[in-house]
Amino acid sequence: MSALLVRDVAQVVSPTGGEAPLRGPRLREVTVTADAYILCEDGRISDVGSMAAVPKLGNDVEELDGRGLCAIPGLVDCHTHACFAGDRLDEFDLRSGGASYEELHAAGGGILSTVRATRAAGRDGLAAALERHRGWMLAHGTTTFEAKSGYGLDRETELAMLDAIRDAGGVPTWLGAHAVPPEFADADAYLAFALGAVLPEAAAIAEAADVFLERGAFDVDQARRYLEACRAAGLELRLHADQFTEGGGIPLAVELGARSVDHLEATGPAGVKTLAASDVTGVLLPVAALFLDRPMPPGRELVDAGAAVALATDFNPGSAFCESLPVAWNLACTQIGLSPAEALAACTVNAAHVLGRADRIGRIAPGYDADLVLLDARDWRYAAYHLGTDHVAAVLKGGEPVRARP
Ligand code: NIG
Ligand code: FE
Repeated sequence: MSALLVRDVAQVVSPTGGEAPLRGPRLREVTVTADAYILCEDGRISDVGSMAAVPKLGNDVEELDGRGLCAIPGLVDCHTHACFAGDRLDEFDLRSGGASYEELHAAGGGILSTVRATRAAGRDGLAAALERHRGWMLAHGTTTFEAKSGYGLDRETELAMLDAIRDAGGVPTWLGAHAVPPEFADADAYLAFALGAVLPEAAAIAEAADVFLERGAFDVDQARRYLEACRAAGLELRLHADQFTEGGGIPLAVELGARSVDHLEATGPAGVKTLAASDVTGVLLPVAALFLDRPMPPGRELVDAGAAVALATDFNPGSAFCESLPVAWNLACTQIGLSPAEALAACTVNAAHVLGRADRIGRIAPGYDADLVLLDARDWRYAAYHLGTDHVAAVLKGGEPVRARP
């Protein structure tokens, strides 16, 4: 048995209770234990409490000095496109001069430019790129990440992406309907190929399927056809919807019993109401809104209406080149109107729920995985407050330090 006592921690912070997803007023309930310890055994948290009541432990228990540090649950990034090769720096330059993301996409750039780079990278190149990106995410406190395929759009590269994500310890999502690659005449022809030739093997690796429901990508009928086939193959369902236009993604997500509907920058009051009355989680991606100079999603309205919301980075080379959940956390507070506590729950418990893991990760409580972030700050809310400096001093995954204090 391996045991680790994280002791003398200034604050141990965890969303309160045991249920998921958290909604409404429950979303802002955090338990803060001052001058506290966390005992980890065999990769799990076995005990949490005040130092005043720390148990007597044997010499075989390792200790980690938490003085001056705050502990929060390992962050859960439930929406990334972290498996990609190349970059989109030239497009970033063009966009800064006024070109729009949708124009670049329509001209064969955008997602399709990353498809070209990703196809050319090969399995080893992809794995190396993902390993690098994984290190960036860990440094900002992300201990669990989801990543999507969708930059292959051919059989070989889509499956190579899913393998790489799984092998890197990520949660793989098959984004088989991200864009129509140039070798197909239209979206219907491409979908027939993807569902016939890729889905059977993708379903054996991925946990969920995702679709980009948007003008210039896939419409509601195509999204329904794709998602129904994926559900029949045993995959959970997710959607990119209402990013630029409100296109029926929320009703479709509710109709199909999807895990989540993500983006929502263009969602209006009716969509907010429909989502709030459902079991589908709305995933807020404020970095993408900022990066593309789009309106922020109506996250405050969603929470007030009782919706389950999660918060993620959308890390990708085009619309959100940012792997930092603390940056997303800051934007959730400053641009969307969530409190630091609501945003913490959104990128821990509720993000874990989107990934079907809320019984194992997202809280600091007995029985949960010992995934912890130690912040070098007097108060846990510094992680959101100090924009650009996230104060992550150490990261533990399964009770093992994965990033030492610099
Ligand atoms: O979530 N909108 C579609 N997909 C991604 C962007 C992918 C890309 O631009 O490479 C997103 O924003
Ligand atoms: Fe995305």
